[in-house]
Amino acid sequence: MKVLVVGSGGREHAICTSIRKSPRLTKLFCAPGNAGIAQIAECVPIGVMEFDRIAAFAKENAIDLVVVAPDDPLAAGLVDVLNENGIRAFGPKKNAAILEGSKAFSKDLMKKYGIPTAAYENFDDSKEALKYLESCSYPIVLKADGLALGKGVLICKDHDEAVAGVKEIMEDKKFGDSGNRMVIEEFMTGREVSVLSFCDGKTIRIMTSAQDHKRAKDHDEGLNTGGMGTFSPSPFYTKEVDEFCKAQIYQKTVDAMASEGRPFKGVIFFGLMLTKDGPKVLEYNARFGDPEAQVVLPRMKNDILDVFDACIDGTLDQINLEFEDNAAVCVVLASDGYPVSYEKGFVINGLENFEGKEDYFCFHAGSKLTDRGIVTNGGRVLGITAKGRDLHEARSKAYEATEWVSFENKYMRHDIGKAIDEV
Ligand code: AMP
Ligand code: GLY
Repeated sequence: MKVLVVGSGGREHAICTSIRKSPRLTKLFCAPGNAGIAQIAECVPIGVMEFDRIAAFAKENAIDLVVVAPDDPLAAGLVDVLNENGIRAFGPKKNAAILEGSKAFSKDLMKKYGIPTAAYENFDDSKEALKYLESCSYPIVLKADGLALGKGVLICKDHDEAVAGVKEIMEDKKFGDSGNRMVIEEFMTGREVSVLSFCDGKTIRIMTSAQDHKRAKDHDEGLNTGGMGTFSPSPFYTKEVDEFCKAQIYQKTVDAMASEGRPFKGVIFFGLMLTKDGPKVLEYNARFGDPEAQVVLPRMKNDILDVFDACIDGTLDQINLEFEDNAAVCVVLASDGYPVSYEKGFVINGLENFEGKEDYFCFHAGSKLTDRGIVTNGGRVLGITAKGRDLHEARSKAYEATEWVSFENKYMRHDIGKAIDEV
């Protein structure tokens, strides 16, 4: 089977690593990929939003399956374009990717189908939003409706901050057209858990849980980032939480999308908050999380190509997802200054230390091959992942492996997975 993965980050490196394990694979391509992915797949210099070129490449090379990993091409309808060209693709169509692409849509869906989430109101007029703020209690959460690289969420501690936030989103258009509409929602407190799932439009299969660390600095300080590290499973995702979510959230979401004429085939990522009133949905994503994929996929026992096929063919009810009875921790090595400004182009040393080490993975997020060797090429550079018998062992192995590589301006958090000490 010839497979093309679309994307270029640590998540795509993790997906390619899983696909490589399949005996069904004959050839793996990635567009555009990165220097790490290039070691296990043939990278082709086509951008993720170049739909016509992706379709043309898939046809010319008789690709059997295209896996679309990032949010932007999913929301803009790459899967639809591929299907129209007779190409099989894994990922939701545009009318289903809206589950992530519009926060106003997802909030209305949850309200209509009784799926637990924070109380909210949607606005497409800034004056109305500003008026509403006068009657709110604080803190309050403002969300730009559309995709905003994970940055379109503002937590405002008082009325003044919220007024400034509404102006930034809706009037100054800080997040572009994503801010034409916005959601204002109740602030929730509790522990966050990421749950990824496979869906075939009717059936949903839940993967093992994970927890992300979004803030840039230790002790959850600093700015929000794409994610500085993850661990899996989350010890806070108990059997009770799982039972509640199975009854109130997961299948209800898949059924709701089907009822709306938007059957969801692909990965639904449930961003959950475990509040004192029970689990609630913070957000949906229509794809694998990054870096969640870097701790979840290495623990999956199934042939991932079988699972992708089942999602496309509507036969997921015949698949029993299985995960190893262990744990994984991923520590992101970033460029100092991320997520604001940082330098790129520094040589990465020590990558060879990962060769032949079974429980260790060095997923590349932002790297590039040059005549000087592999250099840093992004804010997040590498995702250093290790598996262990339990979270403690996985954590100490992952941190040990962060010392195997070096590059100028290397930055990481030192408390990834520390929460497990509280259990
Ligand atoms: P989102 O992109 O919607 O996941 O939001 C990014 C982050 O903002 C989440 O991971 C939470 O940490 C935080 N957040 C979003 N919505 C809320 C909320 N209603 N209450 C508290 N924190 C929130
Ligand atoms: N790590 C969060 C995300 O992928 O959106």
